[in-house]
Amino acid sequence: MKPAHQGSTRPLLTLVIPTRNEAGNVPELAERLSGALSGLDYRIVFIDDSSDETPEVIEELRRRDPRIRLIHRDEAEQRGGLSTAVIAGMELAESEYTCVMDADLQHPPEKVGEMLKVAQSSGADVVVASRYARGGGYAGLASPARRIISRGSRLLAKLVFSEARKTTDPLTGFFLVRTRAISGLQFRPTGFKVLLEILVCAPDLKVREIPFRFQPRRSGTSKATLRQGLEYLSHILSLFWYVPSAGRFWKFAMVGSSGVVVNMAVLISLVELAGADKTVAWMLAVGASIMSNFLLNNAFTWRDVRNASRIHFLMRGALSYPVAILALGANFAVYYPLKDAGHLFPTTMADYAYIPAALLGILAATAVNFTLNSQLVFRQ
Ligand code: GDD
Ligand code: MN
Repeated sequence: MKPAHQGSTRPLLTLVIPTRNEAGNVPELAERLSGALSGLDYRIVFIDDSSDETPEVIEELRRRDPRIRLIHRDEAEQRGGLSTAVIAGMELAESEYTCVMDADLQHPPEKVGEMLKVAQSSGADVVVASRYARGGGYAGLASPARRIISRGSRLLAKLVFSEARKTTDPLTGFFLVRTRAISGLQFRPTGFKVLLEILVCAPDLKVREIPFRFQPRRSGTSKATLRQGLEYLSHILSLFWYVPSAGRFWKFAMVGSSGVVVNMAVLISLVELAGADKTVAWMLAVGASIMSNFLLNNAFTWRDVRNASRIHFLMRGALSYPVAILALGANFAVYYPLKDAGHLFPTTMADYAYIPAALLGILAATAVNFTLNSQLVFRQ
């Protein structure tokens, strides 16, 4: 078979397919792709870490179809596992679009054309094939345990990263990207879930999704292990720490909690060690914690937002005081009417309404404070 267009023009699509012991699946995969994508200018890159005859099987397919390329990795490279295989494949793509999918036919090859069409018609940078979108399915996740882990991991990603909420399935291994949209990205080897890595590292990407039914594995066995579960957790942590914009709200909440410690430390030392007046000590303690919060938010939470000058930095710091006072106002506005709302609770707890009222007040203050800090104090 001849490729639709040969020569120096950019191909339309590259399929990046990681393989590890998939000899029983790749012939059917290649055939179904060729049927589903007939007439389109595509390439397939297999990134192979197999110890069985998969490379020979792919080599045989390649002889008949020059659109197929095989990268068989050496032992050292293989240690990087699935994610580095996917990343290596994506780095080779010279086409307009790149699609990542599994080799075991759990990702229906017939969906690729639809993903491409959505990308072309919507101008999206990323098209996700989602097991969790309406019309999709995850019956192919073999055991109930895998399903629970999949749901739990997805929930965690969405809770920590707002960018993961752009799709119902940020952990899917089946997605298509506009190659240029991610060409500047520096993938880290810890980037275990490649789609999540892309979404978090490039927060401005336009994302669309289509549903698909995750099929049972055709042949061979899953390579999912407990170690991969742990790698996933360390991936989440690494994204959180090393990508400045990632998980901003949680960074802000961490800084806020440290402010409580600063507040108490200053208050207690002024009163106990310096014999200060308790009201004055309280004011100084509040002032100190607002300042430490600002400094930490500047150095950590919004460290990617540059201060144009020293004056700019000082103005931001000064602005964080009225913002903190507004947040305090929001806290009070929630606390005051709710503190006596005993009728909302069972009679035995009626006298304690002030406690949940205070907690809700803190929540309101945090929300107001975070919003004003992102929109005003640390506006780019
Ligand atoms: N090159 C390479 N190296 N490929 C690998 C490796 C590896 O170390 N481990 C697995 N693969 C290939 C498999 O051959 C298959 O094509 C694909 O990666 C997915 O591996 P499976 O072992 O079939 O994983 P799974 O079906 O349990 O997990 C799938 O579902 C997850 C979500 O539930 C994958 O699509 C994951 O990416 C996805 O997150
Ligand atoms: Mn699989």
